[in-house]
Amino acid sequence: MPTIVILGGAYVGVRVAHSLLKTTAKTVKDLKIILVSKNSHFYWNMASVRLVIPGQLKEEQYAVPIAKGFEQYPAESFQLIVGSAEGLDTDAKTVSVKVGDAEQSISYDHLVLATGSRYVDSNVPWKANGTYEELAATIKNVQERIAEAKEIVVAGAGATGIELAGEIAFEYGKEKKVTLLSGDSQIFGGDSVASSAANELKKLGVVIKTSARVANTTTLADSGKTEIALENGEKLTADLFLSAMGVVPNSEYIPAKLLNAKKFVEVDETYRVTGAADVWAAGDVVAKPKATFVNGDLQATGLAKNIDLVLKGKTPAAISLMPFDVAAASVGRNRGVGRMGVVKLFSFMVYQMKGKTLGIQKMPGYHNGSSF
Ligand SMILES: Cc1cc2nc3c(=O)[nH]c(=O)nc-3n(C[C@H](O)[C@H](O)[C@H](O)COP(=O)(O)OP(=O)(O)OC[C@H]3O[C@@H](n4cnc5c(N)ncnc54)[C@H](O)[C@@H]3O)c2cc1C
Ligand SMILES: *[C@@H]1O[C@H](CO)[C@@H](O)[C@H](O)[C@H]1NC(C)=O
Ligand SMILES: *[C@@H]1O[C@H](CO)[C@@H](O)[C@H](O)[C@H]1NC(C)=O
Ligand SMILES: *[C@@H]1O[C@H](CO)[C@@H](O)[C@H](O)[C@H]1NC(C)=O
Repeated sequence: MPTIVILGGAYVGVRVAHSLLKTTAKTVKDLKIILVSKNSHFYWNMASVRLVIPGQLKEEQYAVPIAKGFEQYPAESFQLIVGSAEGLDTDAKTVSVKVGDAEQSISYDHLVLATGSRYVDSNVPWKANGTYEELAATIKNVQERIAEAKEIVVAGAGATGIELAGEIAFEYGKEKKVTLLSGDSQIFGGDSVASSAANELKKLGVVIKTSARVANTTTLADSGKTEIALENGEKLTADLFLSAMGVVPNSEYIPAKLLNAKKFVEVDETYRVTGAADVWAAGDVVAKPKATFVNGDLQATGLAKNIDLVLKGKTPAAISLMPFDVAAASVGRNRGVGRMGVVKLFSFMVYQMKGKTLGIQKMPGYHNGSSF
């Protein structure tokens, strides 16, 4: 009875688990899927920039218990372990998982690494990096602080920082001053739609400061405000500082020989991990060619098919991704900027594709696998 262990219960892990249970389990006898996730809930993090605005989204629209999505399968074919992967031995083919204070060893025939990445600041909910209780507490805290603050500084002008600044400015208009800090001379990493994004943000009243790299922040004892020191020596103060800077892979438990210099997992074109038999990886923990939901989704689909092929003694296939690069950001609740390859998208197209709902209408079908 082959056991497939999947680490990480977000988009990639959940999709691979459903795909294997829906197709492979029908032809491979006694297939067992074990999904290990720190977070007991399936979290639609792409809506995190909007759900931190008080009153915008209800919890059930962005977070639902993972277990519920798998109730439809025979109990012996699926197990959810809410715990954290802490170690991997690719020779013994075991993973050590911490559940509460207890550590347990789990054997696998095939292993899928889907533990994604996190933001370096632990006070923001752009990704889940802990238990659901911890995530829910972070969300509540950010909501309360946004409601109270008059001056908000968002640091990091990638898609997340742009979307966050846009959501806050759209909701509160002139009631709050929103400043977006970009470490580089242009926002959006200097993308060809960077100046459009800057114009959209300015229309909402967001103040943009470029070449403004944060050196450190301190909480001022008397006022409770945050002082933000920039690398150029300048200082700013704000009621609330929200970081959208710095993304690192959740790969601490993975042997160094399987990682590249930036600690992301190395895979071949079939998304099999280089240098380890029967280990696969996809999504943000690989971040190739780019860490996006769209890429992770295609990789998860292809990877599940490849495990199916290998279990049947066949050769895995190269996974093809989008033929062009896509970049898009919503700016407030009714506009956006983006491009497909070199073709610029109109604001209303990005709004329709993304900004209108931030994808939450897809969550139920993703969570219970009915969309696949
Ligand atoms: C605000 C925002 C908006 C975005 N919008 C878009 C968009 O519109 N389009 C798009 O294509 N992409 C978008 N993205 C990118 C997208 O969110 C990521 O590409 C996607 O989340 C990657 O999914 P994943 O399954 O690889 O892992 P992640 O979402 O990173 O999740 C990893 C999971 O693994 C768990 N985990 C971590 N370590 C361990 C461990 N040791 N043991 C067990 N579990 C562990 C974590 O708790 C988490 O649940 C957006 C990102 C952000 C932040
Ligand atoms: C994320 O989780 C890991 C493991 O639990 C922890 O060591 C780390 O400090 C967390 N990081 C953040 C930014 O919260
Ligand atoms: C913060 O950064 C500024 C600018 O680089 C520096 O002058 C200051 O000493 C730093 N403060 C702390 C507490 O590290
Ligand atoms: C999955 O969720 C969708 C949308 O809520 C629902 O229509 C469908 O019946 C569910 N399927 C299963 C198998 O639970």
